[in-house]
Amino acid sequence: MTVVAIDGPAGAGKSTVARRLAAALGYRHLDTGAMYRGVALAALERGVAPGQAVSVERLAADIDLVIEGDRILIDGRDVSERVREPDVTRAVSAYSAVPGVRAVLVQRQRALAAQRDVVMEGRDIGTAVVPDAAIKIFLTASIRERALRRLADQDTDDAAALAELEASIAARDEADAARAASPFVRAPDAIVVDSTGRNVDEVVAEVLSLISAQGRP
Ligand code: DC
Repeated sequence: MTVVAIDGPAGAGKSTVARRLAAALGYRHLDTGAMYRGVALAALERGVAPGQAVSVERLAADIDLVIEGDRILIDGRDVSERVREPDVTRAVSAYSAVPGVRAVLVQRQRALAAQRDVVMEGRDIGTAVVPDAAIKIFLTASIRERALRRLADQDTDDAAALAELEASIAARDEADAARAASPFVRAPDAIVVDSTGRNVDEVVAEVLSLISAQGRP
């Protein structure tokens, strides 16, 4: 099976680009960040803190976490919108840093990659989940641009909100890069695509041409 790995920081446009690439290639799209968000939500709801590593790992292994297209279901409940809310966004880095959680989710991600060709997006796809992916893209954008995109999602143009978003995005990048278990780093063989100042069509076209330049998977 072929894997296109799309890694990059929060707000770089990974989901939009990965979804569009998957549609263009006829592959499945898998947002691995949604899986970490699902575990974080389940843990928050059960009052399990990230420091309770054994309990969090058990929970990650026990919950029925299903990704269906762009929807995420936990134990049959559709939590696709719920996992994007601020409490989950604030907590998810800490839960994703638990080695046992990563082990459980990485195993599931590899199993999914073995079933069907996939465009898989996350932070460690090209470094840890599928190091032999056919093509690895590291999608990035300036912190200002990433914060502006998040702000547009929230339908506000408040300057204080922008500064706050920039700070929280930078803090999450740092937390993801500083963790001991598969820290967020660029794979040495990933191709860097910077989406700053460019629209989705341009970025998707660039990645598709990179894929065909490498010989389409
Ligand atoms: O892409 P996102 O913002 O939905 O990701 C949520 C969190 O999950 C983010 O803080 C980093 C973590 N994550 C990870 O550690 N490894 C992945 N493959 C995907 C996400």
